[in-house]
Amino acid sequence: MRVSVLGTGYLGATHAACLAAWGHDVVGVDSNAERIATLSTGRAPFREPGLDRLLGAGVSSGRLRFATALDSARDADVHFVCVGTPQCADNHAADLSALWGLVDELAPMLDRSCVVVGKSTVPVGTATKVGERLRRSAPAGDGVEVAWNPEFLREGCAVEDSLHPDRLVLGVETDTAQLRLREVYAGLLADGVPLVVTDLATAELAKVAANTMLAARISLVNLLAEVCEAANADVADLATILGYDERIGSSFLSPGLGFGGGCLPKDIRAFVARAEELGVSRSTDLVHAVDDVNMRQRVRAVEKTTDLVGGDLRGRRLCLLGAAFKAGSDDVRDSPALDVASRLHRGDADVVVHDPLALANARRAHPELQYEPDLATACAGADAIVVLTDWDDYSALDPVALSAVVRQPRVLDARLALDAEKWRAAGWDVSVMGR
Ligand code: UDX
Repeated sequence: MRVSVLGTGYLGATHAACLAAWGHDVVGVDSNAERIATLSTGRAPFREPGLDRLLGAGVSSGRLRFATALDSARDADVHFVCVGTPQCADNHAADLSALWGLVDELAPMLDRSCVVVGKSTVPVGTATKVGERLRRSAPAGDGVEVAWNPEFLREGCAVEDSLHPDRLVLGVETDTAQLRLREVYAGLLADGVPLVVTDLATAELAKVAANTMLAARISLVNLLAEVCEAANADVADLATILGYDERIGSSFLSPGLGFGGGCLPKDIRAFVARAEELGVSRSTDLVHAVDDVNMRQRVRAVEKTTDLVGGDLRGRRLCLLGAAFKAGSDDVRDSPALDVASRLHRGDADVVVHDPLALANARRAHPELQYEPDLATACAGADAIVVLTDWDDYSALDPVALSAVVRQPRVLDARLALDAEKWRAAGWDVSVMGR
């Protein structure tokens, strides 16, 4: 089938590569010429395990190509909309300007029947408006159908999540759209991937609902971490105990610095903004609290670092381990680690940031901070080390060897990544979030 993927960020680039792997004839379109040039050579413009291989195979098979001109998508039977919907600069709602820009540019080109499938995360109700707006200006008129097909992929395992999803959600208005999408995903359906066919609004809500549930679990466990600290209990043990309860389960129950990244924070805020627009405002207090508890972990990390160095940050040399929003990624969008680094820097500490992958992106986002790619050099002369991202490199650090290079053997583990007993035995003053 001829398919277009409009917008080639994490979501679009991965989706385009997977569609080509499933045998479709795919064109990926993006206005970012640099990104398109990289993708056209069969390489990913960001780090995503397995994506280079998939892109390379697609491009060399001739089934996958990339272009900056939207006109290249004109002949597709199915158009996947994968443009970004970031948080608005001045409020918590989703910024849909890229989506509407695309819809208005695409509509006049739609002169044959086709399905426009949204994958971008949007406020519920958007899909219906997209359909109305497309049909109003498209030469094919009612031949243009709209469907919504949310994506639940995680950065760092986006390829795996796309090739082996745990569910497939199709929000459709007609059987024609459903049949087209079943054809697109024939391979996944043959593999027995659970399918939920629903209406547009439910499909739109599926993504923000999932992210809100995940975010709520993280904030709940971080609330428990605060209580554990106050009560002299251990949140890691508590999370293990909770995880054995089948009704609760153990995933998304890691306490620490809280959630960040390009999805969870903005999605829960956009969900609340839309719910309140729809008149559901009393119960959204719950999600406001999830956001508040999450942001408070960053403040707590700063307070605990301050305590660790004796109550005054000024002039203290701090080695901050981690800049990425989570291990396995070079993404620093809304990274809790970089936020803490920036707060400590503003508190006049002398900070140096290390990360195995994300330093280039971190430097672009926070040029005022000092960065060091070599771990031992970053730790040298530190008054305290602060673990802010849960990279394995940090869990594997040898506290005995490290105590020889720091000025003071003090560490704050904000991600519960270290073996605290081992560090204490090596003479370190160890502070842990939630313990
Ligand atoms: C998330 C969703 O998981 C995915 O389904 C959706 O499509 C996009 O958003 P992602 O942003 O890649 O994926 O990261 P995820 O692995 O969910 O982690 C989000 C944040 O939560 C990270 O900052 C991570 O460190 C934090 N986290 C995660 C915790 O603090 N504790 C946990 O137990 C799990």
